[in-house]
Amino acid sequence: MKKISIAIDGPASSGKSTVAKILAKDYQFIYVDTGAMYRAVTYLAMINQVAFSDEKKIVGLIEEYPIRFEQVPGGQRVFVNQSDITEEIRSQAVTQAVSEVAAHQLVREKLVEIQQKLGETGGVVMDGRDIGTTVLPNAEVKIFLIASVEERAQRRYIENQAKGFSASFEELKEAISKRDYLDSHREVSPLVQAEDAILVDTTGMSIEQVVKRIKEIVIAKGF
Ligand code: CDP
Repeated sequence: MKKISIAIDGPASSGKSTVAKILAKDYQFIYVDTGAMYRAVTYLAMINQVAFSDEKKIVGLIEEYPIRFEQVPGGQRVFVNQSDITEEIRSQAVTQAVSEVAAHQLVREKLVEIQQKLGETGGVVMDGRDIGTTVLPNAEVKIFLIASVEERAQRRYIENQAKGFSASFEELKEAISKRDYLDSHREVSPLVQAEDAILVDTTGMSIEQVVKRIKEIVIAKGF
């Protein structure tokens, strides 16, 4: 398989990271979860009691506590200093605040630079909100994954139950809708389908079916 770049964007809980991980494994590419980076920065602000609105201080934190990503089979682990914060960044408190932190231009510039470095040699599956539009505009394959908000809330509900988080289906639906709104309406790199991205509506599709569909798209593009 040629070392192409595959960009997968889409709204919250649309299944991006699950299918991106499988594709990376099957193609033997690296997987980069850019959402984890915005979550890590949000977590840093939380533990250092920096206001989510304080762009300058948050950028200062990124400089003071470099966030490190370790590629392991099946994904990426996230560290600050020596602490592995891979699980902590999935907490509901981080999820609630991340869109506010991710809207800051200077925060985005710093993280996009890291993401572009990780992707520069190709052979990468990267998922997020602005990968096809901003981070990897020349990616050979761009996918925009969507699903109904009901189905996305249902998926997150099942995921949360496995982790012991207690949010109700209605609360999750509201939180997802709010995050979609903030991510789509921010000024810097809003969530939007790249012109050359292919839309895949995963409502009612299994993970295997979505992976199969994306592989068909990769083949149709000549890779
Ligand atoms: O997995 P989930 O759909 O919950 O979200 P995520 O991919 O972990 O991303 C968390 C948040 O980070 C998003 O809601 C966005 O606010 C932000 N994000 C972003 O702005 N740009 C990216 N490339 C990736 C994530």
